[in-house]
Amino acid sequence: MEETIVLLRNKGKIDPKSAADYVKTGGYEALRKALSMNGAEIIEELKQAGLRGRGGAGFPTYRKLQFAYDAPGDVKYIVCNADEGEPGTNKDRILLSTDPCAILEGMAIAGKAVNAHVGFIYLRAEYTYLMPILEAAIASSIEEGCLGENIFGSGFDFTVKLRSGAGAYVCGEETALFESIEGKRGEPRFRPPFPGIKGLFGKPTVLNNVETLANIAPIFRNGAEWYRSLGTENSPGTKLFTVCGNVKHRGVYEFQMGINLKELIYEVCGGIEDDRKLLAVQTGGASGAIINAEQIDMTLDIDSVSASGGRLGCGTILVIDDRNCIIDIVRNNLDFFRDESCGKCTPCREGGTRLYQLISKIAKGQGSVRDLDTIQDLAETMRLTALCGLGHSTAVPVTSSIQNFYFEYLSHIDRDHCPVCSQTGGEYYDSFED
Ligand SMILES: Cc1cc2nc3c(=O)[nH]c(=O)nc-3n(C[C@H](O)[C@H](O)[C@H](O)COP(=O)(O)O)c2cc1C
Ligand code: SF4
Repeated sequence: MEETIVLLRNKGKIDPKSAADYVKTGGYEALRKALSMNGAEIIEELKQAGLRGRGGAGFPTYRKLQFAYDAPGDVKYIVCNADEGEPGTNKDRILLSTDPCAILEGMAIAGKAVNAHVGFIYLRAEYTYLMPILEAAIASSIEEGCLGENIFGSGFDFTVKLRSGAGAYVCGEETALFESIEGKRGEPRFRPPFPGIKGLFGKPTVLNNVETLANIAPIFRNGAEWYRSLGTENSPGTKLFTVCGNVKHRGVYEFQMGINLKELIYEVCGGIEDDRKLLAVQTGGASGAIINAEQIDMTLDIDSVSASGGRLGCGTILVIDDRNCIIDIVRNNLDFFRDESCGKCTPCREGGTRLYQLISKIAKGQGSVRDLDTIQDLAETMRLTALCGLGHSTAVPVTSSIQNFYFEYLSHIDRDHCPVCSQTGGEYYDSFED
């Protein structure tokens, strides 16, 4: 099965630190084209292309630009979310390390659209080693006249600054990220006002994921119609999928939106490691839904995955084989979320810990069917009342796994019946802290 390579076109072929190399491949031509257009025309092109965010929610990119374009004010910002904190995900890292100029070009086009002159890249703390590559790509782009003052003699100025992340998952949430850049503790803000009106330093801000921004230059170079010819009607373009867990060939793959999940696992990734049986798949990262082996014949695009109760999110696919216990996987997820909760709002701070305690109790064979009802109530409360996406989605792995692995939950309520745990004798679970 052939990948469709758009975003990874320069991977391994150019020196990522050299804008001159990037230019030789047609780089910065899209920016040149966009500089001859006005803001409304640029936004219209992105609307026609149908580009949607690759960082989680799949929000239409043109609408974010439109909010900032409409907002009054002389100072506006473009922010690239390179926090990539979702467990198992490393697709943004590939783009940042192999083709950073494509991201800078996308940022500059977005800047021209809304009349912003400064952009920030907020780089995951664990990716600090990429700083020199990004610094060199920015300096070299300025040297080539593709960034900085009076780009291509157009009179438009645009510079990009780098900021290191704070090492917390929640700092990937857009408003927590703004707080962090502003030098404060990275906690989400109340909304409204939304970032397009009042974002970084209180100014209208467009924030996009790395991969979203990397899509902008190809759209302007090849046209919206070309972009629409890739992917599905509501999710055009290609998508980077990070496939991790128990497959034979793990990695980051680029396919058109709409690829079938079963084909991705069995044809592209070579099937399950050691030819084991597939137990479950979690799509969209740690806060994604967990589905069972019978459900994997599904289309991977933003709306299809949502319709099946999950989310495509950043495109991470965790494959789980039958050597794993599903309750243990969920417990691990909850351990992560309770740890990463910033504690600002009660539903997430208390709810996350309570969910973890309940799942640990079930895992230890001390749970009851009533605990499953309590989990559902807590999940709904968190979904409706938490302040940010972290709290909204903490319970998704639990609720989806209860739905799709009910038998396994009942087996744990009477622990001896779980095929995985009965082999470990349960000592592992007994070691969990409450
Ligand atoms: C807890 C939390 C962590 C997030 N982490 C990231 C991240 O690491 N990278 C990212 O692009 N988006 C992340 N997001 C989503 C961002 O808030 C935002 O929606 C996204 O960057 C928007 O970009 P897009 O429209 O290009 O998808 C996170 C959201 C939440 C709630
Ligand atoms: S939902 Fe969780 S991470 Fe988000 S603000 Fe509330 S406590 Fe913080």
